[in-house]
Amino acid sequence: MNDLLTTHTQAERGASGFPTVRMRRLRSGEALRSLVRETHLRPEEFVYPLFIREGSNVREPVGSMPGVYQLSSDEAAREAEECLALGVRSVLLFGIPSDKDEQGSGAWAEVGVVQHAVRELKARYPELLVVTDVCLCEYTSHGHCGVLRGDDVDNDLSLDLLARTAVSHVEAGADVVAPSNMMDGTVGSIRRALDAAGRSASPILAYSTKYASAFYGPFREAAESAPAFGDRRSYQMDPANRREALREVELDVEEGADMVMVKPALAYLDVISDVRATTGLPVAAYNVSGEYSMVKAAAANGWLDERRAALEILTSIKRAGADFIITYYAKDAAGWLP
Ligand code: PBG
Repeated sequence: MNDLLTTHTQAERGASGFPTVRMRRLRSGEALRSLVRETHLRPEEFVYPLFIREGSNVREPVGSMPGVYQLSSDEAAREAEECLALGVRSVLLFGIPSDKDEQGSGAWAEVGVVQHAVRELKARYPELLVVTDVCLCEYTSHGHCGVLRGDDVDNDLSLDLLARTAVSHVEAGADVVAPSNMMDGTVGSIRRALDAAGRSASPILAYSTKYASAFYGPFREAAESAPAFGDRRSYQMDPANRREALREVELDVEEGADMVMVKPALAYLDVISDVRATTGLPVAAYNVSGEYSMVKAAAANGWLDERRAALEILTSIKRAGADFIITYYAKDAAGWLP
């Protein structure tokens, strides 16, 4: 202890700088570097997103996301099996229904596309953690995340429908629900609905700070969920705002969130770091579609070393403070780890 204090004082006086101190000493050789490494990636800290279609034997490539497919639930089960073999124990499901309507009623249908996939995945792999996205945008004909009144998304009218959706996911067997709709009060209304349905043990992963981001572009192709008019700026956060993220987190915690998320990840590392510093809850980060596609596109052109770039990005997200990462690179990264 005394030695430490002495060292500190010397450092402050500048007495122990170069040539006494040489930072390169601890960088010579991989064994030494790995001994002093501060951040580690682990497969069990990745969540792999899956896009679910109706039918069977469907494996439709998503053009803007090489390596990502729209899958029927039998094909999704094959992905889940691969994930488990690689040590990735969690998946996040998005549904692509064949019919959409104004209200997004497919979202809470007992026999909906996600509900069906959850049942199938949990029946085959009970040990797999199945997280479901709770939003209406893939199910509404207009592609907005809630129901419309005129041209505006009506917050309070949407809450009940979203809560019904969350309950139906849990009743199908989902382990965790993840509301991404950015309606005010969505976490509290889902918590109350789950409790009333006797599901007080089911956790909520809140997309607390979800920004109105250009980086969701490829996802909207994958999930067929682009808004038919307008954009999502009346409900998702302004990318310029940092303090507001902490208010969003605080409110979600008060409403009963069990885990919070920052999304996107790469352009929001400061926000991840702030959220980590202000909450004791587990912090997730979503390494979104555009972040994946950028690396894929550069790698396909031979402009980046894909493996190193992807692992460096994932490491930076962990280093900023995320406990776990939702990423389309989950399987690749798990395979690349030593
Ligand atoms: C909305 C939702 C979106 C994403 C996850 N949930 C898209 C949006 O808000 O437009 C984006 C994820 C990604 O880009 O990978 N249900």
